[in-house]
Amino acid sequence: MDRRTLLSGSWKVIIGVLAVEAAWTTWDFLRPRASAGFGAEVEVGAAEGLRDGDVRHVAAGRMYVVNVGGQVQALYQKCPHLGCRVPFCESSGRFECPCHASIFNRQGEYISGPSPRGMDGFPVRVVEGTIVVDTGTVIEGPPRGRLTYDEGDPGPSCLTQVEEEHRQPPEQQHDGEPGDDDPHGDEGEHGGDG
Ligand code: FES
Repeated sequence: MDRRTLLSGSWKVIIGVLAVEAAWTTWDFLRPRASAGFGAEVEVGAAEGLRDGDVRHVAAGRMYVVNVGGQVQALYQKCPHLGCRVPFCESSGRFECPCHASIFNRQGEYISGPSPRGMDGFPVRVVEGTIVVDTGTVIEGPPRGRLTYDEGDPGPSCLTQVEEEHRQPPEQQHDGEPGDDDPHGDEGEHGGDG
């Protein structure tokens, strides 16, 4: 092999290495980050595992991931009123805040109570079949009066059942953990998920 052929071959190898490096850097930049917890992107799981009507609580992201009519949404568990964690009530099929009784439908839309709007949410995307939620970006919930989900006749409310069993002062209903960092810096945050 002469010197000219050798040099030409070396350049081809260098260009090839650079191309692979560039491709790797692009992929590494664009790929979803591994779940880093609340405030970052959180991988929730396979999109096909979330069926129509499902509501899944994701503690690491302080959110619920719901599938309504094939549309996947991520709802912030923090009540837009004063920040209590809003549980999902299986019997009514609604989100019901135990602090001051704000109620939201399965899609997070406002039904009743003192909340100024529907439940806030986070951007969702599906990457290679995996649901990824950006919990660092809060999307303000829909205004009162916007109802796009026909829930039919809701079942018994969990709030009514709790009231019948025992009444707790609202402050005991907050589930925030002391020292919980809230990257969104909201006062009244009690959305820690124990
Ligand atoms: S109704 Fe939820 S905090 Fe008041």
